[in-house]
Amino acid sequence: MQCVSKITALREHVTEWRNAGQSIVLVPTMGNLHDGHLALVLKAQEVADRTIVSIFVNPTQFVQGEDYESYPRTLDEDIDKLSGLRTDLVFHPEVEEIYPGGLQGQTCVTVPELDNIFCGAFRPGHFSGVATVVTKLFNMVEPDIAIFGEKDYQQLLVIRRLATDLCFPIKIIGVPTIREEDGLALSSRNGYLSANERNKATLLYKTLVSISDAVDAGKHDFIELEMRATENLKNAGFKPEYVKICNADNLGKPAAGDLVVLTAAWLGKTRLIDNVIIRR
Ligand code: PAF
Repeated sequence: MQCVSKITALREHVTEWRNAGQSIVLVPTMGNLHDGHLALVLKAQEVADRTIVSIFVNPTQFVQGEDYESYPRTLDEDIDKLSGLRTDLVFHPEVEEIYPGGLQGQTCVTVPELDNIFCGAFRPGHFSGVATVVTKLFNMVEPDIAIFGEKDYQQLLVIRRLATDLCFPIKIIGVPTIREEDGLALSSRNGYLSANERNKATLLYKTLVSISDAVDAGKHDFIELEMRATENLKNAGFKPEYVKICNADNLGKPAAGDLVVLTAAWLGKTRLIDNVIIRR
């Protein structure tokens, strides 16, 4: 497994593999890899000849006051985990490599309509930061396929949309969320939870499942379901930002077809997000 931090070195490997007629899949991450990320890498290995994992804690997707400085950076452990899988290359650039002109005045990618609702409304600029860095990575690697987790459902749709709108010939694959035994979605931020909060955290997923069960059972008063779930979370000590049932393809109003229930809620100092897809 090769580890490089410069774009020129990354491109040398990519060119060599392309010249050999091999297909390339990119798995973008911010590191601190857990089994959720490793599921993305395992999927990657099924779909292309060469797997590249990027590890970059992207400053532009953190809103002021968020955990950019304290976000867990565990490069050595991450590289160990990836070398146990069949990863061909780890790209772990410094901030200056990705943003050589600095962060101010940077050309940005925005994905209107999707980037200012739900998480985007509470984290203004977050999805533009994600869209910008993913666009840069797409241009650096020019992969055939890129893989993202469904855990960040809104992000996945933002990326699908940018790939379509900017004509990237890249297939975007979403991989289902990996959960702890009690249902909590794996996330690097779970490490911020106290033992007591960790016990409570499972309620977030259970709340989404109860909405999904209610919809399956024929309940269609979505606003009432959202309100009741919000109330339950509050009573359990969460500070919910939103609980929303929407169209799974575009996050628009629920209509015929698949739905997704999305939530973001604070538990103490930890912001948790989760979602459940309702197939219909
Ligand atoms: O999901 C993440 O880890 C990040 O948002 C991503 C896609 C790697 C962009 O920085």
